[in-house]
Amino acid sequence: ARRRQVDETLSPFRLSQEQLTLVKNRMSAGLEAGLRCKGTSSVKMLPSFVYRTPDGKEQGKYLALDLGGTNLRALLVTFKTGLQQNTRMHHKIYTIPLEIMQGTGEELFDYIAYCISDFLDYMGMKKAHLPAGFTFSFPCEQTAIDTGKLVSWTKGFKATDCEGHDVVEMLREAIKRRNEFDLDIIAMVNDTVGTMMSCAYEDPQCEIGMIVGTGTNVCYMEDLKNIEKTKQNISKMCVNTEWGGLGDDGSLDDIMTPFDIEVNQNSINPGKQRFEKLISGMYLGEIVRQVLLDLTRAGLLFRGRVTETLKTPGMFQTKYLSQIESDRIALLQVRSILQQLGLNSTCNDSIIVREVCAMVSRRAAQLCGAGMAAVVDKIRENRGLNHLNITVGVDGALYKLLLRFTIYFSSLNDLIQSNLALAPQCDVTFLPSDEGSGKGAALITAVARQKHI
Ligand code: BG6
Ligand code: GLC
Repeated sequence: ARRRQVDETLSPFRLSQEQLTLVKNRMSAGLEAGLRCKGTSSVKMLPSFVYRTPDGKEQGKYLALDLGGTNLRALLVTFKTGLQQNTRMHHKIYTIPLEIMQGTGEELFDYIAYCISDFLDYMGMKKAHLPAGFTFSFPCEQTAIDTGKLVSWTKGFKATDCEGHDVVEMLREAIKRRNEFDLDIIAMVNDTVGTMMSCAYEDPQCEIGMIVGTGTNVCYMEDLKNIEKTKQNISKMCVNTEWGGLGDDGSLDDIMTPFDIEVNQNSINPGKQRFEKLISGMYLGEIVRQVLLDLTRAGLLFRGRVTETLKTPGMFQTKYLSQIESDRIALLQVRSILQQLGLNSTCNDSIIVREVCAMVSRRAAQLCGAGMAAVVDKIRENRGLNHLNITVGVDGALYKLLLRFTIYFSSLNDLIQSNLALAPQCDVTFLPSDEGSGKGAALITAVARQKHI
């Protein structure tokens, strides 16, 4: 009976083939609606003003700033051409304290300017006046490669007076306030775009960028005629889909479990980023915690004892999820991880916890695959092809964590791949980026500086 109750609780996480097909179709409809409405639909489809991937001829020395989910990275990137295409990178990572993420906009940008200043000191380049690219991993309405208004904060950010403002301008002003160094900010890009560019430098077939980290998102090379009326001699532009917003109009309500509803309500942006909240690192641990709470309250776990730890938001970090789920980790180790979290478990408990983790991340991977199936099919149809071979550049802590472990069922990659069966006419290769999107931002800066990118 116990087993049956656990199964019942977990059953809404099991998505049928029909449900996944529906998700794919809704994503396809979301991509189309976004292209038509520009910014006002739930999948925003934001133009990036990046018109092509790199051709290997990029050169020069650039500063790249990369504001991701939790960290700010400052990088100095040097591209050399010649017989041996060669890239040199130096970087430093700065954590962004919660008070800064959720303080005032001015404080946030002053902090970024401080980090740049520290990095330039570290590199001995305070006087260099470098060309710079800024990876800003949030939805921005761009009107050119170097201007973009923040549409809305996502993930853990909530700094005031930023939404609706030009991010590049805010950074320039903070640098002016600091009055210590100069930078020539030439490009701002979403992290998906940076990742695509950085992977495309290695593999010219890479025309999609995907992030599965704190948040999740995808960009791809769209036909320019689908974005704007154009007489220009260029055919494509990279579009930042902001696919994490799928479902913000209620279109995914039928697959939401009570646990997802709870996680959404307790988040700093209720009602927003509903697809993202089913997939990315910021939320999976919280979903697991909600399930464990429910099972414990029903007396099916931890001898029915609801501890303070279990009631604490954020205590079950996504990194535990990937550890617990790892096939190679014996149940004893699962128990010791739970112990570290202050949860006394029996052997049976640890089996159930592992199952919960596996169900939640399996669903995440399946949804990601279903969404990607819509994207690759769209590209294939745009090009009128019967068959499409394409590479997706991928980054993000969650993708990398889950990639490292063979998870309970199979690897994240295999799971995403198996859902690409929803796009049978496409062969998709995933290429993990090992440089982050900062290198991509530098590449975009290099091209933008030469001429129209
Ligand atoms: C990094 C990129 O590699 O991946 C960032 O350089 C990006 O810009 C990030 O945001 C995603 O990482 P995270 O921290 O959300 O897992
Ligand atoms: C969030 C942001 C998006 C970003 C993604 C991955 O979804 O809105 O811009 O690409 O996280 O970092």
